[in-house]
Amino acid sequence: MKPKVSVIGASGYVGGELLRLLLTHPSVEVKYCYSRSFAKKYIHTVHPNLRKKSELMFTDEDPVSIASQSDISFFALPHGQSSKIMQRVLETGTRVIDLGADFRLEDPEDYKIWYKFEHPSPSLLQKFVYGLPELWAFKIKGARNIAVPGCIATSAILSLAPLAKMIQTTAIVDAKVGSSGSGGKPSPATHYSERFGVVRVYKPAGHRHTAEIIQEISKIKGEKVNISMSAHAVNMVRGIQTTTHIPSDDIPDIKELWRQFRQFYSNSPFVRIVRDKQGNNKYPDPKFTIGSNFADVGFEIDVEGRRVLAFGALDNLVKGAAGNAVQCMNLMMGFDEEEGLGYIPLHPV
Ligand SMILES: NC(=O)c1ccc[n+]([C@@H]2O[C@H](COP(=O)([O-])OP(=O)(O)OC[C@H]3O[C@@H](n4cnc5c(N)ncnc54)[C@H](OP(=O)(O)O)[C@@H]3O)[C@@H](O)[C@H]2O)c1
Repeated sequence: MKPKVSVIGASGYVGGELLRLLLTHPSVEVKYCYSRSFAKKYIHTVHPNLRKKSELMFTDEDPVSIASQSDISFFALPHGQSSKIMQRVLETGTRVIDLGADFRLEDPEDYKIWYKFEHPSPSLLQKFVYGLPELWAFKIKGARNIAVPGCIATSAILSLAPLAKMIQTTAIVDAKVGSSGSGGKPSPATHYSERFGVVRVYKPAGHRHTAEIIQEISKIKGEKVNISMSAHAVNMVRGIQTTTHIPSDDIPDIKELWRQFRQFYSNSPFVRIVRDKQGNNKYPDPKFTIGSNFADVGFEIDVEGRRVLAFGALDNLVKGAAGNAVQCMNLMMGFDEEEGLGYIPLHPV
């Protein structure tokens, strides 16, 4: 019998993307799709792309009860929600893959600083593994509970990780984010007339994902690093692009950077190194990752400007959320890492 999986927060953008991937995954069966607002409605009423792929309906049964009947429970709720019930969820014995921010940070103090909230169950933080397989596959394989990284953080961390040891002062991440990054719930800022065509500086400093980027890159470097980020809303529906500036007095040559990236990602099926000498697409661009679990990473040097640049691009709903979560599930359950994730990006899109 296949393991049963359920999605709590199934009516959201991330929930919908989880369903797209899980419904065709050969080794699991989708059992419950939790939504308070759409209970008893077919899932395709909210996610029209799923029409004719499933007869499942949303349910508003208690999430803890759903978890108790599921081998794996995916949570795709706004931050601050899953941590309210996680103690009871874990007591059911289900495995958990949480796509919100509630279990990504190891130090409860960081939640006060970055999320302005007191974590309700700080003792549970250590029960979760940060779910970035390219860094922590060996931990994910032995884990029962996974905290899936944020979408911008995934792009920034993957592009920066091979260069972590090069950070001397402050690495500065410049992030461009598509509109689906802020979820499916409309707001004045996401209203079409206001959002269409913008290049809006929406978080010049203090973006919450900075905390996890610092946490993970510091682990790789072996000491606390300074990282700062500015985030911009741009005219895409899906997609994240990050350009990280690393000031350096000691600029390596390009061959050395190739060597470092190739070595770092030699066992990473979903990371593509993009740095061509010519053509229109020499560096990572989210346009060529859409619909897939690929994260594209690249680099450049600026000798006169005394900096090294790291580029990242991905689909925020796939490698930035649901695809990465399924990749973690595969590792955790002993499935092939790539199972159910063979989607080639769309082109043109
Ligand atoms: N969007 C992205 O690119 C992205 C990427 C990585 C991670 N994430 C994270 O994933 C999570 C979900 O994001 P999203 O973009 O899918 O958001 P979304 O489209 O707004 O969906 C949120 C979901 O949570 C449910 N929900 C909202 N408030 C709730 C509450 N108080 N109790 C129970 N259910 C509640 C909603 O369902 P009902 O109202 O129907 O019950 C809906 O299904 C967030 O933590 C987000 O930060 C998002």
